[in-house]
Order: sequence, then structure tokens, then C-alpha cells
Amino acid sequence: MTVIAIERGAESRFPDEPFAIRHGLSGHHLLSLDALAVLAGRLDRDRVEFNSGKLKPDQLPEDVPALDLTPAEVVRKIETADAWMVLKNVEEIPEYRALIAGALDDAAKALGRKGASAAGMRDFQGFIFVASANAVTPFHMDYEENFFVHLAGPKAMHVFDNRDRSLVPEEEMEVYPGKHRNLRYREDFEAKARVFEMLPGDGLFLPYTWPHWVRTGDRYAISMAITWKSKRDVRLNGLYFVNAVMRKMKLPQPVPGRHPWYDGIKVAAYSAARMVVEPLRRSESMRRRLRAVFFGRKANYYYREKTEG
Ligand SMILES: [Fe+2]
Repeated sequence: MTVIAIERGAESRFPDEPFAIRHGLSGHHLLSLDALAVLAGRLDRDRVEFNSGKLKPDQLPEDVPALDLTPAEVVRKIETADAWMVLKNVEEIPEYRALIAGALDDAAKALGRKGASAAGMRDFQGFIFVASANAVTPFHMDYEENFFVHLAGPKAMHVFDNRDRSLVPEEEMEVYPGKHRNLRYREDFEAKARVFEMLPGDGLFLPYTWPHWVRTGDRYAISMAITWKSKRDVRLNGLYFVNAVMRKMKLPQPVPGRHPWYDGIKVAAYSAARMVVEPLRRSESMRRRLRAVFFGRKANYYYREKTEG
């Protein structure tokens, strides 16, 4: 089997709508619990986020209970810890980078493209989720496109249409580093959900900013998000960031796309500022300082566990 397989006909829904996929990554030696415990200890501390998994889809960020464990302990005790964890930017570790780049190339070929870069898939990243039984990832959206591959245990992802502003208002689409990802959720949203029930070997394509929440089943679960951004996604991310900053300055902005020339000016300003800030962001302590300076101390919320000292 190829690493990622897409059913015939699904490619016509790419990149605007979600669809189920199959993959051959379950059982890969880099994705076992032992390998992930080692990985959790290797990543910079701000690349590892974890908390109790006993959450609800509408959990308020400030009410998320912390866990008194180290990152490696969370992975090793995942069968009993009632925990939820994400290992971020695993592509910074060479073996994982090779794994993810290969899988993404394969997915692009399954979509009828020559490869990931020929398909305009930029800035690829990997996120690995390790969660105890009955753990919930609350309602949120991600600012990238995603081949989500499910590796161990049962899991259900509830996915919602990102064009429906009754679910996520425009203001909540805006984003800045350190903003807590959880969005407002109401139970009546559920009538609009498309539910992807997954076992190892299953997965889905999740389009840019489609809201979702996730629940594991009666066993612990491991999944990996293989993400990238298209040119359009990069441009929208710049706009959502600038608009969030302007809103903080009490200057709320028009919706992206309403005034393309003005959007263009904002994207250019954002790109210029990024060229200054990006080299600084290579160090963890600088990333932390930048988040605190621009967005307040709350933006470093994932340092709450005991390793913080
Ligand atoms: Fe997500």
C-alpha cells in the first residue's frame, strides 16, 4: 500500500471539502509509544502541550486542568493518565521530517500531482496527538491544511463547514501567536457535524480552518496531523493576524476579500515585519518573550505544568 491512499473521485473535493483517506503508517517504528516518549523529551518545551483529557467540546481555556507530569511521563502513562497531549513541529527532528515529507509527497501524487512542492504545499509541519481513552479535544480550527492519519485506538472527529458564520463568527477567525485555540461551541452545532469515525489505518483530509472537535474511544489513541499551507492559506493567515492586531488596537477590519487592494497592503506589511521577527523565533526563550511582549503573559499558557518550576 502507498503511504496515503485517496478514494477515486475524492480529489475533486480537494482542497475545499473534507474527505476520508486510508494510510499505511500504523505500526511505523517512529510512531510507537516508546519512540514518542523519547521524542517528547527531545522537543523544546514549548513544542509539547498537554493537560487533562477530561474536557468538554465547549471547554473554556482558563478551565483546562493541568497535569503534574513531565512530557515523557505523559506518554508512558497514557493508558491510565487521563491525559491529552500534542507534540508540535516534529518535522524539526530529521527522522520525522523525512517521514512527513515522504507521506505528503505520496498524498500529492494520490491527488494526481507530481509531488508536494509541485502541488504548492509549503511549510509542511507534523503534530502528533497522544490521548487517553475518552479524551476530548475541544472545538477549534487550524490555520493550515491537514492529512490527518490515525494510528492507534478509536477516535471520532466532528467536522464543521468553515463557510458557516453561525458557527464561527468572523472575529473569531482572526488569530495571533499564543491565542488559545478553543472556540465557542454550542450543542446545537452538532446537527451540522460530519463525523469521521476512525480506527488505525483511517484518516481524513481536513481543509484550511474547518472547525472540528475530537473524542477518543474506549482506549488510548495516537494520531498525526501532516499539515501544510498553500499560497492562499499563507496570505489569509497574514490577513487574520494583521486584523487581530488592528482589533486589539480598537480598529476592527473588513472581512478578507472585501477590499483586495487594502488586503494586499496589509499582507505586504505583515511579510516585511515577519522578515524581522522570524530569525528571532528560532530560540525558545525568544519565542516566549515575543509572545509575552506582543500578546501578554497568558499567551504562554502551555508552560503551566510542573516542568516550569
Ligand atoms: Fe485540530
